[in-house]
Amino acid sequence: MILDISSIRKKVFVATILVFFFWISAPRCWAKVTGVCSNCHTMHYSQNGGALVAWGSTGPYQNLLVDTCVGCHSNTSTETIKTLGSGATASRVPVVYNTVEPTYPTTPSANGPSVTLAGGNFYWVEKVGDQYGHNVISHADAVLTEAPGRNQGCTNSCHYSLYSWTFPWPNSQGHGCTACHTPAHHKGGSSTPISDEEDGWYRFLAQRHGTSNDRNIKGLEDPDWQQSVSPTDHNEYWDYYVSGPGGVYGISRFCAGCHGLFHSTRYGPANGGFYAGAWFAAPWLRHPAGIYFPSTGETSKYNTDGTGPEGVPGPYNPLAPVGRQNIDSYTAPSSSVTVGSGGDMVMCLSCHRAHGSPYPDMLRWDYTTCQAGTPNSSCGCFICHTEKDQ
Ligand code: HEC
Ligand code: HEC
Ligand code: HEC
Ligand code: HEC
Ligand code: HEC
Ligand code: HEC
Repeated sequence: MILDISSIRKKVFVATILVFFFWISAPRCWAKVTGVCSNCHTMHYSQNGGALVAWGSTGPYQNLLVDTCVGCHSNTSTETIKTLGSGATASRVPVVYNTVEPTYPTTPSANGPSVTLAGGNFYWVEKVGDQYGHNVISHADAVLTEAPGRNQGCTNSCHYSLYSWTFPWPNSQGHGCTACHTPAHHKGGSSTPISDEEDGWYRFLAQRHGTSNDRNIKGLEDPDWQQSVSPTDHNEYWDYYVSGPGGVYGISRFCAGCHGLFHSTRYGPANGGFYAGAWFAAPWLRHPAGIYFPSTGETSKYNTDGTGPEGVPGPYNPLAPVGRQNIDSYTAPSSSVTVGSGGDMVMCLSCHRAHGSPYPDMLRWDYTTCQAGTPNSSCGCFICHTEKDQ
């Protein structure tokens, strides 16, 4: 037999293309739980005549679960992803509350089993002080008796306290977790990486009441919840702002569900608290959020040393991330950032962690080290205000 090298090459080529095709078309449905039912459910809340040590001790729980939200999503070691069960049928749980201090990622690239996930961690608000996070787990905030910037009524609601008042679904053991999350642990499974209703939205974040979809969140979910993170390895956030009242969507609008005035960057007493004038331009009365980066000025040089030309931003920096206006075309995280009217947005999560951080007001970096005229690569303000450290 004569060896036909070119035909072998062709076959290898075709096989490579096929492998690549199956790789990119393979479903990436990270939000959906995996593992055997008994990792998470118990039919009678009883085994050998009692509750197992691995279960929560205050059951039985709704949905026949073995624990509460906090019980499953917390850990007594520093590891921020834990497992339930063992071997090939184990389930991987993202941890939001470590009872011993986890590692906070202070650089744009961080890695390791104890690095806090994208939302930060409830450790600091539980163990250090109320100002370090949303008070959800064991006690109400001693200082804040309502969400700062609150402009919605709903007396005796999560607009006042995430601890004392909880949504009835899925269980009264939900704590304030369910004020923000609409859990859908068995949803997902589409081949698109974009989370929408079928996929349990982005991180189960959906509107809690009302009829509009403005707080249903889309995004691209990092498979390890940013336990490892870099400019090319991160979540993608959706933030969107159509000019005028009623035209706001995305993650900043989500936070504004409880902190309304802080999204209304041009509301002020002079306007009677209502929208007046252009949304996208200075003067700002509060720091903009849900606003695209202008194509001129220092912020158009996002994540550069600020000495280059205007309108030319540097790469995505997970220390001060940006939101994307149109996320539907994303299939992988992107390191590129764009400015101008169709470009990327400054959002609440550019400066804050959703759950908590080692810094007051759950900021992403130590604000007290941000000194004008003093370069400091760990101060997030300088990532956008590229000339203020000069
Ligand atoms: C890794 C944890 C985990 C595993 C494994 C798991 N579940 Fe669940 N399940 C949950 C959680 C958490 C809920 C709470 C409700 C929600 O988020 O939708 C739930 C809710 C449910 C519900 C009620 C809500 C619904 O979607 O219908 C059913 C039924 C259910 N699970 C069945 C199962 C069965 C059957 C298995 C095994 C084949 C299983 N679960 C495996 C965590 C798990
Ligand atoms: C029995 C254990 C268990 C309970 C109880 C539980 N979860 Fe989960 N949860 C999980 C696991 C496991 C995952 C990871 C699923 C995966 O692999 O993506 C998860 C994932 C999540 C996520 C991230 C979803 C994503 O897109 O990555 C959120 C948010 C969440 N849970 C919130 C809650 C809330 C709120 C409650 C209480 C109402 C709750 N969980 C109760 C086990 C649990
Ligand atoms: C469901 C209502 C609700 C949503 C949604 C919400 N918050 Fe809050 N937030 C509160 C309440 C209530 C407080 C005051 C009590 C506390 O700290 O828990 C608060 C406090 C804060 C604080 C001050 C923390 C402190 O103790 O000093 C910051 C910062 C904050 N929220 C940022 C955000 C960001 C960013 C988002 C969006 C990811 C968000 N919030 C979404 C209800 C909410
Ligand atoms: C104030 C709103 C809010 C509350 C309260 C809240 N979360 Fe979250 N959570 C978020 C947001 C926003 C994200 C997405 C963070 C990101 O991607 O930067 C998130 C992300 C998560 C994730 C994915 C891991 C991560 O860090 O990104 C899990 C799991 C989770 N939340 C569970 C919980 C549990 C359990 C509770 C209650 C103890 C809770 N959350 C309370 C808003 C909230
Ligand atoms: C440019 C960074 C930045 C952005 C964007 C941002 N914040 Fe803040 N936020 C801060 C800083 C810094 C503080 C500390 C107080 C101050 O300097 O005003 C703070 C404080 C807060 C507080 C506590 C206020 C109090 O009275 O204790 C809340 C609540 C809050 N922010 C919510 C939000 C929400 C919601 C959004 C999006 C609509 C948002 N922030 C966007 C930087 C930011
Ligand atoms: C993710 C990017 C980003 C981060 C991080 C950020 N800013 Fe901004 N900031 C902006 C943008 C964009 C504007 C609007 C700029 C414009 O209109 O030209 C702005 C506007 C401002 C203004 C008003 C400027 C004016 O023209 O009125 C101040 C003051 C300000 N930021 C301070 C801060 C401080 C302090 C921090 C750190 C706590 C911070 N910013 C973090 C993007 C950011």
